[in-house]
Amino acid sequence: MRPAPIIAPSILAADFAHLADEVRAIEGAADWVHVDVMDNHFVPNLTIGLPVVKSLRAATDIPFDVHLMITEPERWAPGYAEAGAYNVTFHAEACDDPVHLAKTLRAAGAKAGLAIDRDTPVEPYLELLPYVDTVLIMTIKAGFGGQSFLPEMLGKVRDVRRRIKVKDLEVRLEVDGGIAADTIEQAAAAGADAFVAGTAVYGAQDPAEAIRRLRGLAAEAPQSA
Ligand code: DX5
Ligand code: ZN
Repeated sequence: MRPAPIIAPSILAADFAHLADEVRAIEGAADWVHVDVMDNHFVPNLTIGLPVVKSLRAATDIPFDVHLMITEPERWAPGYAEAGAYNVTFHAEACDDPVHLAKTLRAAGAKAGLAIDRDTPVEPYLELLPYVDTVLIMTIKAGFGGQSFLPEMLGKVRDVRRRIKVKDLEVRLEVDGGIAADTIEQAAAAGADAFVAGTAVYGAQDPAEAIRRLRGLAAEAPQSA
């Protein structure tokens, strides 16, 4: 049986002037908080870096799911693990030696995650699954919140789920981008068991309630994969 779905609201859709309050508003409802770090190089957008993440870390007990959309993750990712992130995900496209970086992150006390962007096939990375704790399949092009979910990315989710199953691995399979009440079931049915949601949570009147609804939908989706 698959573990209970993880819901990870993305702070990208929150009010950055009140980040700590925005994160506290989902305590007790969210499993992880998804922290999108963008460097204006790997993606055109720019968000926050380590000093802000450190301050935020001290403001809440919710585990941090840090999504690094940056170049040179070898240089920066370990700092997030040392700052107490629960999971640190870096992009396959930005990293020459993902296995080495995953080992470094684990040694620093974090889970290690590998992200695959929209235009990157997943096949070359399936062999790396035993070395990571999470795989994040982008269901949009990384860089901006509020984009529409791309159902054609679900083939990658199915491929990763199949490999996890065949090799009996303990890897969380996360999807990121356009996840909402009308898309989460198909992602869960394809094999995802962790769901990032920015707009669908922070754009809702009651973010905590939106999280509970998403979790219920994910849990009820048929698990064919
Ligand atoms: C975009 C980020 C996502 C983003 C998702 O590159 O990685 O985490 O915040 O936002 P929504 O849920 O609005 O698509
Ligand atoms: Zn993200």
